[in-house]
Amino acid sequence: MEFEDVLRKRGSVRKYRPESLMDSEIRALMEAAMLGPSGMNLRPYRFIVVRQEKKLNHIKSFCPYAKYNAPNAILVIGDTSRSPHMWGNDCGAATENILLEATNLGLGAVWCAMYPFEDRCAPVKKLLELKPEEEIYSLILIGHPDEEKGSRGHYEETKVTIIDD
Ligand SMILES: Cc1cc2nc3c(=O)[nH]c(=O)nc-3n(C[C@H](O)[C@H](O)[C@H](O)COP(=O)(O)O)c2cc1C
Repeated sequence: MEFEDVLRKRGSVRKYRPESLMDSEIRALMEAAMLGPSGMNLRPYRFIVVRQEKKLNHIKSFCPYAKYNAPNAILVIGDTSRSPHMWGNDCGAATENILLEATNLGLGAVWCAMYPFEDRCAPVKKLLELKPEEEIYSLILIGHPDEEKGSRGHYEETKVTIIDD
């Protein structure tokens, strides 16, 4: 897909078909995530891909705005000790790259908020046995879309200031 089409076609998908992601799709998504920019190139992240339905339902049960029927999920995990000030920025860049690559592959995804909501993060951290210094930055629900996201734009002139000379 052309880059411009990927940008405009990406949209939060909240209805999915049941098929799981293939290993090759996961590989492409993970490569896209790690192609993102990273402060001091520290890459303070790792990714947990959940294909098991039971575990996914357990995770989703702690996340009030993630009750969609996606067959899979990717958790973006930040290492706060490796990059104490910039881990969140790096995880955000990785998350967006995953969403864009999902669109490019014909998949659908939605970014669901985790950090800084302790009531969502703490039980999932325990369930996945994360290290104390690890934080769950985002939960990305992902799969084959069962709803159409048309090409859109969100452009608002008033949000742009151009400073010349
Ligand atoms: C930080 C962040 C947290 C979000 N959390 C949720 C969420 O918990 N549940 C959800 O359905 N959508 C969530 N979204 C998706 C937004 O609702 C969505 O991006 C926004 O409405 C714009 O729509 P679009 O993604 O289709 O362009 C989140 C997006 C961001 C960037």
